Amino acid sequence: MALGVQIKTAEEIAKMRIAGKLAADVLRMIGPHVQPGITTEELDTICNDYIVNVQQAVSACLGYRGFPKSICTSLNHVVCHGIPGPKKLKEGDIINIDVTVVKDGYHGDTSKMFFVGKPSVLAERLVRITRECLFIGIEMVRPGVRLGDIGAAIQRHAENHHFSIVREFCGHGIGSIFHEAELQVLHYGIPGTGLVLEPGMTFTIEPMVNAGKRHIKILGDGWTAVTKDHSLSAQWEHTLAVTHDGVEILTLREEEKNSVT
Ligand code: MF3
Ligand code: CO
Ligand code: CO
Repeated sequence: MALGVQIKTAEEIAKMRIAGKLAADVLRMIGPHVQPGITTEELDTICNDYIVNVQQAVSACLGYRGFPKSICTSLNHVVCHGIPGPKKLKEGDIINIDVTVVKDGYHGDTSKMFFVGKPSVLAERLVRITRECLFIGIEMVRPGVRLGDIGAAIQRHAENHHFSIVREFCGHGIGSIFHEAELQVLHYGIPGTGLVLEPGMTFTIEPMVNAGKRHIKILGDGWTAVTKDHSLSAQWEHTLAVTHDGVEILTLREEEKNSVT
């Protein structure tokens, strides 16, 4: 076994399956609220109330390293870690909502892109290609595959479409710990390198893809990552478990169950 990388027991994965379903349910619940005129802090409040009161769980984000809200809301040129606030959504915006729920000590982490009204042709294409990047990665997950193989395939798909992969953030091992330092899933890389996957490993894949250049900067709030060139950015995320012969998507939503890609 790779040194330091956790292998989860069946009991732990059962708990992650529950946490993952709750995180997926938050994204399903919030969808109808993503409309012109709503503020991102209203979306945050609706999600937190649902997590706490309906799911009897907690947000892993609230208070994490000082993060002040319960979800991340990343709008247009925001790459990730947008902090909910008084900004109102408007027609044509794209927004990533990233939800991490903790239930019975285990985490489920997932995000999706929403369109506010009708997107531009570029926005629609960026969001679609980014989702394809996520699922190209997911479909490769099985014992024996190396993380460099997965990163390279994700990078190739984005770059084939003249988009770029953000390098500063990666997928991560997850379980009773939100971000396991020992397991990092780069969304770019070199085939035949990196960790060899084994059954019981659990991690996220969460590619961030920019319409322009890959470079980012962090705003003065210490969290919000934006594209340096102000180009649009998209991200999708699932929490996964490596099974004996493939992958289980712990945060899969009902809407994704028929056509996964
Ligand atoms: N959910 C994010 C991830 O995918 C992390 C958010 S940390 C927060 O890893 F503090 F910004 F919420
Ligand atoms: Co994550
Ligand atoms: Co996340």
